[in-house]
Amino acid sequence: MSTGTGRRFPDGFLWGSATASYQIEGAAKEGGRGPSIWDTFSHTPGKTLNGDTGDVADDHYHRWQEDLGHIADLGLGAYRFSTAWPRVQPGGRGPANREGLDFYSRLVDGLLERGVKPVLTLYHWDLPQDLEDAGGWATRDTAHRFADYAEIMAHELGDRVETWTTLNEPWCSAYLGYASGAHAPGRAEPAAALAAVHHLNLAHGLGIQAVRSVLPAARASVTLNLHVIRPVDPSSEQDRDAARRVDALANRAFTGPMLTGAYPDDLLADTAHVTDWSFVRDGDEATAHQPIDVLGVNYYSTGLVRRWDGVSPRSEDDGHADALGSPWVGADDVEFVRPEGPYTAMGWNIDPSGLTELLLRMHREHPGVPMMITENGAAFADTVSSDGAVHDPLRVDYIARHLEAAGQAIDQGADLRGYFAWSLLDNFEWSLGYDRRFGLIRVDYDTLERTWKDSAHWYREVIARNGLPG
Ligand code: FCB
Repeated sequence: MSTGTGRRFPDGFLWGSATASYQIEGAAKEGGRGPSIWDTFSHTPGKTLNGDTGDVADDHYHRWQEDLGHIADLGLGAYRFSTAWPRVQPGGRGPANREGLDFYSRLVDGLLERGVKPVLTLYHWDLPQDLEDAGGWATRDTAHRFADYAEIMAHELGDRVETWTTLNEPWCSAYLGYASGAHAPGRAEPAAALAAVHHLNLAHGLGIQAVRSVLPAARASVTLNLHVIRPVDPSSEQDRDAARRVDALANRAFTGPMLTGAYPDDLLADTAHVTDWSFVRDGDEATAHQPIDVLGVNYYSTGLVRRWDGVSPRSEDDGHADALGSPWVGADDVEFVRPEGPYTAMGWNIDPSGLTELLLRMHREHPGVPMMITENGAAFADTVSSDGAVHDPLRVDYIARHLEAAGQAIDQGADLRGYFAWSLLDNFEWSLGYDRRFGLIRVDYDTLERTWKDSAHWYREVIARNGLPG
């Protein structure tokens, strides 16, 4: 185990931790909140491990003041959280629900009082159910409804928010939600998934426009789970082409419109047998292409692909739970091979070199766009020791190695401004429920008591010294 290389980070580097509304808040039926697609999905038998739901989660809705205390004690410079659209607009449209707004307004004030910068994500997957009933992200109107919601939030929270992030990992929303069905709303309709990709890109652009219509100087962002995809045999043209196809679906389907104003031609060609992309209207790509102040990068592991021979059983080791279909729309001749270990409790391979590679790639392809690592962390099967402590050396090691990898990218020119550990608290890990623990702070799901793991103590030291211990 290594706890550090002694590396220091640039002055002003932002140290944070991240959470998301549905994963921590609970109080699903309180404060005027309407149902989201994750309430419906998690309450559908067979969709989540052990039938877990976010009904109670970490009960952060009631314990937010205690959680602010932990945030302050850790010394976080920033806290990344998301606002639940169905708390603000219970049916996804129409007037705002005052109680929902008040909750977030108090949270933001509490952060500012403690000197912590609020980094807000408007959409971390809890779409109001009524909007899904009207077609969800496969429908264009949802992007316009998102812009209305973004404008409400900008009016309410104004310049108290440090960074406005439109979406978290639209890759997951589109492909896991509408193609594989592993996530809410659990649909397995490949063409709808590509429509969702587009409407999420459009929502991002309209959302930034809406926020800036209220706050012209707002710092705007989006968080993408950019994939590092490697060919099994780099000398094989077929394997390299498999990696290119997956890269188009995973990365360039979003960075294309958002950062360059156009979908890549190869993506449109690769998926032409699934859809004609006629849902993209004139001007949409320009709308998606709003200037952003910082790109949020979520990074956990890498992917390994090759051309499938069409005969042997197809390997689908892409790190995502089995579901109704493949998230890799149109890539029927590609297979995902299990990368070399070690692995976390998610089954994800640990490969910090991928983070260096990814940050340098973004720096090269999109120069001038500063970056923050908005999620990075690991689930392990933590246990509570007889002394009441949670010794999680593997998590410390994981974070230390990834911080060192991030530092190496900075050394080579990447403009990286901050790092957010996923996650502040153990929480509802989507279709895997409460079984996978990512927190720096343990949550006892019987008592809801919070206990700092060793990694929390360690991270506090890292923050205090603006770098890794030697
Ligand atoms: C990311 C999600 C986050 C969390 C981590 C483990 O894909 O954004 O909510 O579930 O994975």
